[in-house]
Amino acid sequence: MYLGIDLGTSAVKTVLVDDAQRVIASESRPLATTSPQSGYYEQDPAQWIDATFATLDALKASHADALAAVLGIGLSGQMHGATLLDASSRPLRPCILWNDGRSAAECRILEQRWPDLHAVTGNKAMAGFTAPKLLWIATHEPEIFAATKLVLLPKAYLRLVLSGEAIEDVSDASGSLWLDAARRDWSDAALAATGLTREHMPRLVEGCAPATTLRNELARRWGMTRQPIIAGGAGDNPAGAVGIGAIAPGTAFISLGTSGALLAPTNRIAANPDRVVHTFCHAIPAMWIQAGAILSAASCLAWAARLFGVTEAELLAPLGARPQAPSPVSFLPYLAGERTPHDDPAVRGMLNGLSHGTDRGMIVQAVLEGVAFALADCRDALADAGIALAEADVIGGGSRSPYWLAVLANVLNVPIHRFAGGETGAAFGAARLGRLAVTGEAITAVCTRPQRVETFEPDAGLADAYAERLPAWRELYRPRH
Ligand code: XUL
Repeated sequence: MYLGIDLGTSAVKTVLVDDAQRVIASESRPLATTSPQSGYYEQDPAQWIDATFATLDALKASHADALAAVLGIGLSGQMHGATLLDASSRPLRPCILWNDGRSAAECRILEQRWPDLHAVTGNKAMAGFTAPKLLWIATHEPEIFAATKLVLLPKAYLRLVLSGEAIEDVSDASGSLWLDAARRDWSDAALAATGLTREHMPRLVEGCAPATTLRNELARRWGMTRQPIIAGGAGDNPAGAVGIGAIAPGTAFISLGTSGALLAPTNRIAANPDRVVHTFCHAIPAMWIQAGAILSAASCLAWAARLFGVTEAELLAPLGARPQAPSPVSFLPYLAGERTPHDDPAVRGMLNGLSHGTDRGMIVQAVLEGVAFALADCRDALADAGIALAEADVIGGGSRSPYWLAVLANVLNVPIHRFAGGETGAAFGAARLGRLAVTGEAITAVCTRPQRVETFEPDAGLADAYAERLPAWRELYRPRH
C-alpha cells in the first residue's frame, strides 16, 4: 500500500493506492491563499501541515487497515514557493507562492549579476521562481533574510515536519533557479548570486529514490505497522507526468489545475529561456521536462463562478457539449500576471468585445477559450525549442469539462485525450514515486499509461475559425513594463 500526498495551491490531496495501483481512498482539505497586495500571494505553512494531517486522520478513520499497510509515501507539491526557516526550523514569515509577482526588479538584478543563469538553469529569471524572492527579502525584509537558515519549497517543508529531515527532489528544485539542470545539483554560483550557500539548501535526491522515513510517532498516530519510506517525490507538474506515465519523449500533456501548463518530457535539455520555456528535471533520472507555464487556468473558471455567484458546474452546463463558433467576446487569462510567453508579472486580465447582446455564456466561453489561446502560445514557444505537438493528454480539475477539452482540441488543432480520474494526477504520481522508492522496480513497469476514456478530435471548420481569431487575441496583450 502506498500514499501520495499532493500539497497543491487550493488543497492538500492524499490518495491511498494499493499494490494493483488502484486508488482505494482519497481525502482532500482546502487551503487558503492571502493576497496582501495585488500580485502578492502567500500561504501560512502551518495550514499545509494541518490539512495534510487532517487527510491522514480521515483516512485512518475510514481505511485503518489499508493505512496500516503503507510502505511508501510520495510527496508532490506546488512549485517555486519560498519557505524561510530560522535556526529552529520555524517559518519566519508566510510562504511566498509560485504566482507571486513582487520580485520582477530582482529578476533583472539576478540576470545581470549572474550571466550564466540561462545556460546553467535552462530558465529565465522569473518572479515566480524562488531565487528572486530571496533577493526581494534581502532588500525589503533584511532582518528575515539575516535570520534565514534554511530555504525550502513547500513540500520539502512538509517532509521536514513528517520526517525531521530537510530533503528536496531535483524536479522541484529546478524551479528554484539555484539548480544546475544538466548536473542535477545545486549551483554554487547561483546560490552566491543571492547571498546564499549550500548550507541554506536541503539535500537533493531523485524523485523516485528513497529520501527518508516517516517519524515513528507519526507512523504510530496513523496506525502504520512499519515506518514508511518517503520518496524524493516531485513538483506537481512532474508528479502529474509520472501519474500518467509521461516518462518518454513524445508524451506531451496539458495540466489544467489552478495554474496551467503544456509539458513535454525530453531525454535532453531543449531550453528556450528567451521564449519563457521552463526547464525542469523530470522526477525520474536522466529525463527533463520542457514546459510552457501559465499562471491562471482552472482558477479563471473559479473566478468567473465567483463573479456570477454560481458554481462552476452551473456555469458550464448551459454551454452544451462543444462550441459551435468562437465566442464574440475575448478574454486574456492574465489574472495573476503571466509567465509563458510574456514573463510579465504586472499584466492583468481583460474581457474584450462586450456589447448589449453579451450574455453569461459568451463570457464563460471566452474564459475557456482565453486559457486555450494562452496554451497555444505555450505550444508555439515549445515548437521554437524544437518540440512539436501532435496530440496531448489533459490532467487536472479542468479536464472534467468536455466542453473545455473540445475548445482545446480546436484551438491547438490536435487530438486531446482525457483519462478517468485525471484530476487526481499529481497525488497518484507521487504515490507511484513512493512505490518506486520502496520496491526499486523498473520505472516503466510502474509508470504505465492509464486508459484514455475519451478523445476530442479537432473539427476542420472550427479549428480554422480559432486559427483566424488567435492573432487578434494576441494583439490584445500590451506589456505594462
Ligand atoms: C509551474 C508552476 C505551477 C505551480 C503550482 O511552473 O508555477 O504549476 O507548480 O501548481
